[in-house]
Amino acid sequence: MRIDILTIFPDMFPCVLNTSILKRAQDKGLVEIHVWNLRDWTTDKHQTTDDTPYGGGGGMIMKPEPIFAAVETLLGEEKVPVILLTPQGRVFNQEMAQALAQQERLLFICGRYEGVDERVREHLVTEEISIGDYVLSGGELAAMVVVDAVVRLLPGALGYERAAAEDSHATGLLEGPHYTRPPVFRGWEVPEVLRSGHHARVAQWRRLQSLKRTLERRPDLLARAPLTQEEKQWLREQGYEGPYYDENENADLRTDN
Ligand code: ADE
Repeated sequence: MRIDILTIFPDMFPCVLNTSILKRAQDKGLVEIHVWNLRDWTTDKHQTTDDTPYGGGGGMIMKPEPIFAAVETLLGEEKVPVILLTPQGRVFNQEMAQALAQQERLLFICGRYEGVDERVREHLVTEEISIGDYVLSGGELAAMVVVDAVVRLLPGALGYERAAAEDSHATGLLEGPHYTRPPVFRGWEVPEVLRSGHHARVAQWRRLQSLKRTLERRPDLLARAPLTQEEKQWLREQGYEGPYYDENENADLRTDN
């Protein structure tokens, strides 16, 4: 995969991109990430990337010319998702991360909060993504979040391959508790079943913990998670009446909007 990121603050990226899984994925050749300074596509002496809004009002708006010039230089005729990070975008989730991880190439434009000239959205951007219902100072942190979530899904990026499939949200449920040594810490014990070495019991226990935790913290996720009849029965006994995800009826629930 190749990722290009357009920003007026390129210095924000190296630390994040050169650490941990993102670094390893690049070292292994799974992804090539290029961060570009939008100012390099300005033509005036002051390298201006923004201007005052037509019609007045506060804040500055990102000018269209450097953004179009940069994207057209970087992509040429290639058809690539051009993603604008903005609080007005579709709210990012694991399913969107999985879809983006299937692409050969992605380009991210880090908008500043006040906004980007509408012609960029209308004629250049193919997708707008928000990382949540709050406002950041710019799209840079959001781009890092999305890039991290996507790159860790590339085959070979994680040391332990099954981990991504078991992540919270990947199964539609939150993960249950995890423990490591020591078996007793300040009198608090690791659950016996985890030390039993009995794989089937461990798997069953984990699934139940996962359901419990999701019911406690994010019952909204239960409506979208594939569940067995027994699991639905168990949830009913806990007082959860649904709705439930149905592969056939509710297929549209899985593609968020
Ligand atoms: N830019 C400012 N706030 C943002 C958000 N919540 N998501 C994506 N980009 C942003």
